[in-house]
This record gives sequence, C-alpha cells and structure tokens, in this order.
Amino acid sequence: MEHIKSFLVLGGSSDIGRATALRFAVAGQRIFLAGRDLVALQREADDIAARTGAKVSVSVLDILDTGSFETFVNGLSDLPDTILCVIGLLGDQSKAETDLVHAREIICTNFEGPALLFSIFAERFAQRGTGTIIGVSSVAGERGRAANYVYGASKAGLTAFLSGLRSRFGKSKIRVVTVKPGFVRTRMTRGMSLPRLLTAEPEQVAQAIFNAVIVRPRDVIYVKPIWAFIMTVIKAIPEPIFKLVRI
Ligand SMILES: NC(=O)c1ccc[n+]([C@@H]2O[C@H](COP(=O)([O-])OP(=O)(O)OC[C@H]3O[C@@H](n4cnc5c(N)ncnc54)[C@H](OP(=O)(O)O)[C@@H]3O)[C@@H](O)[C@H]2O)c1
Repeated sequence: MEHIKSFLVLGGSSDIGRATALRFAVAGQRIFLAGRDLVALQREADDIAARTGAKVSVSVLDILDTGSFETFVNGLSDLPDTILCVIGLLGDQSKAETDLVHAREIICTNFEGPALLFSIFAERFAQRGTGTIIGVSSVAGERGRAANYVYGASKAGLTAFLSGLRSRFGKSKIRVVTVKPGFVRTRMTRGMSLPRLLTAEPEQVAQAIFNAVIVRPRDVIYVKPIWAFIMTVIKAIPEPIFKLVRI
C-alpha cells in the first residue's frame, strides 16, 4: 500500500499554520493540527477536510507545558513525516522590560518550548532514519533591536538551535528547515502599518515552505528575498552607530 505522507502543525490555529496545513493537504498529505484551542483547531480541521478530502486530526498542546511533551508525541497516531512549528508570541516589549513573567512567557513560547519539543521529535526521527523539522523563526532574531529584543533574542535562540540540529543531521535523511518570513499579514501583526512590498500573505509563506520542503529543498528561507538583502545591511551597521538609531 502506498505510504501517505503526514504533516504536523504545532500552532494549527495560527494564520501561517492554517495556510501551510491547507497547502500540504492539497498535495495529498494527512494532516495533524496541534494547539491549545481545540475548538478553533477542530473548525480548521473540518474546513481543510471539506476542501481537500484529507484526513485531519487535532490534539491539545500548550508549548509552555514542557512536562506534557512526551505524552503529546506518544499520543499521535503516527510519527509524522514532517513537523512545522509556527507557535510564537510577539508579546509587549515595554511590558517585558519590567515584567519578568511576561518576558519569560515570550522566551519560553518562542524558544524553550519549541526547542525541547523539537529535541523529542529529533530523537524519534533519528530512530526512524527520516523526517523533516521546520521552524518558523524571524528576521528579528538576526539583530537585537530596542523595539522587540526579548522576542528577537528568543527567535535568535530558535534559529541557532535549528542550525545546530541541521548540522547534527547533515549527512542523514533528516532535514531541518528554518523559515524567516519578514512581515506577514496575520493576527500577530493586526493593526500595524506594514510596508506592502515587504509584507507577505500567509498563503505566500505556505507556498514558500512547501517549495523548500517538496519542490526545491532548501535549509534556510526568507519568504520575500528582499529580506535577505535588508538583513545583510542591518547586520553590517557597526554597533556604536546601531545603538543610536531606531530601526
Ligand atoms: N506575522 C509576522 O509578521 C511574523 C513575522 C515573522 C515570524 N512570525 C512567526 O510566525 C509564527 C506564526 O505567527 P502568525 O503570524 O501566524 O501569528 P498568530 O496567528 O498569532 O500565531 C501564533 C500561534 O502561536 C500559538 N501559541 C501562542 N502561545 C501558545 C502556547 N502557549 N501554546 C500553544 N500555542 C501557542 C497561537 O495559538 P492560539 O490560537 O491558541 O493563540 C497561534 O497558533 C510565529 O512563530 C511568529 O513568531 C510571524
């Protein structure tokens, strides 16, 4: 019998997660959606199943509850071929400067939780010999800025973790893909004024991820290539100047 590939989205209620799940379902993959809002996940699962005919299941996951991770992974009916983590929290930078509980929530949501859960999947993939891990990080992780350095630092940690995982599995059939989307029009950026040329729609992120995994394998992608150029320039600014400008 032909093996139907399976795709797990951690953060299945996010705009990017939903769009990417739909893209892989259209390609005939079986879908798992995980997140903390089961009602939202089930609504999404029903929609994807109705539109594509894919089999879609949902399961509960709170990325801050690291003690539940083994049970979560063991509770999946199969070990997925591919996992995508889109869970993230921008948070409130000025609040995080004095409220350590909020700062910790940002750091644990973007870095600690995803890194620990990836570690469990990495071991399972290593035992099986195949698997793809996709982490949605951010260009904010490439240089700390006053406007969002708690978020940025946690994404920097995630980017480094993914890079290390990729290097660990470099010669095997296990793949690790890092996604740096730039601005995306989602619930996270609602109300912000985003420059049109630099902003992607969730469906564009989904297609870029699909391409990087299925069509033309890539390790690290910027959804809009102009972001690679922008970040090269931003990273080249000397620190004594960078600390004086607000960008
Ligand atoms: N939008 C952008 O401009 C942009 C740019 C670069 C990177 N990103 C990254 O892209 C990813 C997806 O974000 P998005 O733009 O699609 O925003 P979003 O719709 O706000 O997605 C955030 C996701 O994280 C989930 N989440 C937060 N805390 C969680 C927790 N404790 N346990 C489980 N799930 C939790 C949310 O679940 P609930 O539905 O339960 O809240 C939601 O599914 C994030 O990692 C974000 O950092 C976004």
